[in-house]
Amino acid sequence: MIEKKEVGEKAVEYVKDGMVVGLGTGSTVYYFISKLGQLVQQGLSIKGVPTSKHTEKLAIELGIPLVSFNEIEQIDVAIDGADEVDPDLNLIKGGGGALLREKIIAKAAKTFIIVADSHKNVDTLGTFPLPIEVVPYGFEMTVKHIREIGGSPMLRQKDGLPFLTDNGNYVIDSRFQEIKHPKELEKNLNLIPGVVDNGLFVGLADAVITIMDKKLVTKVR
Ligand code: 5RP
Repeated sequence: MIEKKEVGEKAVEYVKDGMVVGLGTGSTVYYFISKLGQLVQQGLSIKGVPTSKHTEKLAIELGIPLVSFNEIEQIDVAIDGADEVDPDLNLIKGGGGALLREKIIAKAAKTFIIVADSHKNVDTLGTFPLPIEVVPYGFEMTVKHIREIGGSPMLRQKDGLPFLTDNGNYVIDSRFQEIKHPKELEKNLNLIPGVVDNGLFVGLADAVITIMDKKLVTKVR
């Protein structure tokens, strides 16, 4: 918790007056959004674009003004969490099920910053099961194809029912052992009919604020 707060709050340094800010999802970025809310109360003028309904609600509660895509040209900076971060700043995301909106916003942002506690740093991606967003129609076939390319897919459940994303889709969590070629796997998964997107974020993060050897560090790509 202390690490999450430390890295989350540090990220406000990337936000300047007048910016459009992508607001991530999860328990680490929560601290960023809370701090941002305080700065807005003190007069900082920014507009937020939330990556999930959960974050939208939080931002509204904190008084952070929001905008939609049809009102903006670009996102200046997006701040988000991650489930795994490799030494090249490639990521697994989607533990909270928000991976599609998170990737749309990360890709739209001029600068994409990750906040991650020390446990998220790995040598090779793949210990965390990779979240894959799929359309409900024919998902049994989609699962079969994920298995054919080396995955061990499991349908994410909540209260005994399939977990539904904010987009009304399912999430398949799939282990792939070590993911040595994340870009290739990201592309191959997205070629399967029924896959909307997956939680591999390759070459998107510009910097990762994290803790290494008990010290706050910012790793830059
Ligand atoms: C949600 C995400 C989160 O950023 C990721 O799961 C990390 O969450 P947390 O900060 O709670 O550990 O990708 O879809």
